[in-house]
Amino acid sequence: MSVIAVVGAQWGDEGKGRVVDYLARDADLVVRYGGGNNAGHTVVNPHGQFKLHLIPSGIFHPSTRNLLGNGVVINPPALVRELDDLAGAGFDCGNLFISDRAHVVLPHHILIDQLEERERGVARLGTTSRGIGPAFVDKVARRGIRIVELVDPTVFRNRLEGALRRARRVVEGYFGAGGAGDELADAIGSALDLERVSAEYLAAGERLRPLVVDGQALVDDALSSNAHILLEGQLGTMRDLDWGIYPYVTSSSPIPGGASLGAGLPAVRIDRVLGVAKAYTTAVGAGPLPTELTDAAGDALRERGAEYGTSTGRPRRCGWYDAVAVRFSVRLAGYSGIALTKLDVLDGLDTIRVCTAYRDPVSGDEWATVPAATSVYERLQPVYEDLPGWRTDTTACRSWDELPAAARAYVERVEGLAEVPITHVSVGPERTQMILRDGASEAPSAPRAARDVQVGTA
Ligand code: GDP
Ligand code: IMO
Ligand code: MG
Repeated sequence: MSVIAVVGAQWGDEGKGRVVDYLARDADLVVRYGGGNNAGHTVVNPHGQFKLHLIPSGIFHPSTRNLLGNGVVINPPALVRELDDLAGAGFDCGNLFISDRAHVVLPHHILIDQLEERERGVARLGTTSRGIGPAFVDKVARRGIRIVELVDPTVFRNRLEGALRRARRVVEGYFGAGGAGDELADAIGSALDLERVSAEYLAAGERLRPLVVDGQALVDDALSSNAHILLEGQLGTMRDLDWGIYPYVTSSSPIPGGASLGAGLPAVRIDRVLGVAKAYTTAVGAGPLPTELTDAAGDALRERGAEYGTSTGRPRRCGWYDAVAVRFSVRLAGYSGIALTKLDVLDGLDTIRVCTAYRDPVSGDEWATVPAATSVYERLQPVYEDLPGWRTDTTACRSWDELPAAARAYVERVEGLAEVPITHVSVGPERTQMILRDGASEAPSAPRAARDVQVGTA
C-alpha cells in the first residue's frame, strides 16, 4: 500500500499532470484535492495530447479510479464539456467519481472574479477568471452550494435562489442599481438569471449524478484494501493560500496539508510526497518572480518550453531555476523525492543560472528564504551561480547515464540545493521521456488491490 501526493514545488505548471499520468499506470485511485478548473494539466501519452482542467490525470488508465475530492470546486457545465471532449477522444470516463462534498462554482462567482479584478486595476492578481476565489469565499463563509445539493433539484433551486439574491446585491454594489451599462451587462444578466442558471446547472447535475459518491468512503475503502493512491496537486507552493506570495495566490492549499483535507484521508496515511519542479521557473499571473527574465533569454525559454497557460493561453513569465523558492517548498511539503521536468528545454544553452539566495538592494541583507512581506519580496534580487550548459539534445536520453555529464551535474547541483533526492528527470512530455534515477523506486510498486470496493452514491 502506498499513498503518494504529487505536489507542485514552484509557481504551478511544473508538469504535475504528466507525472501523475506516468505514475497512475500503477495506481488504483487518483484524487484531485484542490483548486478547480483554473488548473490546466497537459498530458501527452500514446492516446494523444490532452488538456485537463478538472478531471484527474489518471483518467487515461481505465482500471485506475479517479476522484474529484471534496477540496475541489467544480463548475458543473465546464466538467460536462471536459467529459464530452474526452468522450470524443474515446474515453468514456466510467472511472471518474465526484465527491458529494465538493463545492459548486456558479456563474456569478466568475462574474465577481472579473469585477474584483477590474476593481483592483493595476494591482490585479491576474486570476484565471474561472470564479475560483469567489467560490472558495462562499465555502468559507458557509454559504456555498455543494455537489450533494446540486443533484437534488428542489434543494438546488432553493439554494440558488438565495445565492442569486445575495449576488445581485454584490453586483449592484459595483454599479449601482442602474446596472453595469458596459460590456459586462450581458454576462451579468445571464449570471443572475435564476431560470437560466437553474436549467443549465440542473441539466449538468443530471449528467454528473451517476458519478457522485461519498468520496470519503471511496478513499477509505481504497486505504483498507491496500490500494495505491495518488493525490494530485493543483498549482504550486508559491501560490498556496497560506504560504504563497499573498495576495497573488489561489484560494486553496496546493501543499500536502491541503491534500489530506481535500482528498479526505488522515494526514498520517500519506507515505510519500513527490515534489514536481521545472528545471527553470515559470508563472502565470501577477506577483513577485525574482528570477524572471524579461529579455530575449526569457522569450527563448518560453518558445522552447511552449510556455503558454493551458487554461487561459496567457504567455507564462519565464526565468531561471529558483533554489530558494524550491527549498521553501521542500520545508513545507516534506518531499521524499523531486521529479525535475523539462530539462530538455535547457539543452541549447551555454550557461545556465541558478538562484541560490536573494539580496535586498535597500538593506543589503541576503535572504535564504521567502519573506512574508510581498512588498519586500518584490524588490529582492536573485544571487546567481552559473553552471555550464551541455549544448546537446537530451530528448532521446532514457537513462541517467545517457544524459550529458554537464546535465547530470546541473541536476546534482539542484538536488544539493533542494536537499532532497531528485528521483525522476523528464526530457520531454511523453511517458517514455521520463528518466528514473538509479536507486529510485518506480512509485508505487506493490501489486494492485482488488477492485470490488463498494462506494455509496449520494
Ligand atoms: P501542470 O499544471 O503542473 O500539470 O503543468 P502543465 O501541464 O500546465 O505544464 C507543463 C507543460 O510542459 C505541459 O505542456 C507538458 O506537456 C510539458 N512538459 C512536461 N514535462 C516536460 C518535459 O520534460 N519536457 C518538455 N519539453 N515538456 C514537458
Ligand atoms: P496548474 O494546476 C498556473 C494563478 C493565476 C493567478 C493565481 C490565482 O496548471 O498549475 P485563481 O484563478 O486560482 O484565483 O488565480 O494563480 N493560477 C495558475 N497559474 N497554473 C495554474 O494551474 C493556475 N491556476 C491559477 O494565474 O496568478
Ligand atoms: Mg498547468
